[in-house]
Amino acid sequence: MEFFELIEKRYSVRRFLDQDVPDSDLAKMIKASGMAPSGKNFQNWHFVVIKNKEIIKKMGDTIIDRIEGVSKRLPEDQAQNFRKFSKFATFFTGAPVLVAVYAGEYIPEGYVELVESKDDQANIDRLTDANPGVQGIGGAIEQMILAAFDLGYGACWMTSPNNSALELEKLIDFKKDKFKLVALVPIGKPDGERRSPAKMDLTEIMTLIK
Ligand SMILES: Cc1cc2nc3c(=O)[nH]c(=O)nc-3n(C[C@H](O)[C@H](O)[C@H](O)COP(=O)(O)O)c2cc1C
Repeated sequence: MEFFELIEKRYSVRRFLDQDVPDSDLAKMIKASGMAPSGKNFQNWHFVVIKNKEIIKKMGDTIIDRIEGVSKRLPEDQAQNFRKFSKFATFFTGAPVLVAVYAGEYIPEGYVELVESKDDQANIDRLTDANPGVQGIGGAIEQMILAAFDLGYGACWMTSPNNSALELEKLIDFKKDKFKLVALVPIGKPDGERRSPAKMDLTEIMTLIK
């Protein structure tokens, strides 16, 4: 697909057909992720590709249990909203493939120097708030999703399952020093076709300084 057509056609797919995604196509998507830029070319990412339906289902059940447990400690109206939102954290159980995205530790360039030189804390905060480690992961996730669309699949970037990240990490059982689960990306053939919700106008998001 032509690049800008691909960008316009991509939307968050939340319903999938029960159809396998060949490992060779998944390899292309993860390779696209791995080609993304990252601070200092650190490539502080790892992608666990889960096709095991039992694990995917257990992950969904775990999130539902967590949401239920947390809801019991909330006022009723807030609990109701949280429970309603649970489908946006668990629809991945309907996908044939679930990519669990892990981020490794990333120390921003200059952090050690600013701290050791006792620089103004506000400057240190600005350096860490911009979170270059997570910025790099974002680029890698987007490249995976665009590659998925280009190959005729759909996908959705998900972070709300992170409310159960510790439990999900135990279920996935991937271990690499200081790597943490940061996002899930279900992938599969879309069930039906939809469009993205409206996006802001260019005039709202672009400021040109000449
Ligand atoms: C960082 C990030 C986290 C997201 N987390 C979720 C999620 O947990 N559940 C969900 O249904 N959609 C999630 N989305 C998808 C957004 O809701 C979606 O991108 C947005 O509504 C715009 O729609 P579009 O992707 O179709 O253009 C996430 C997107 C991003 C970039």
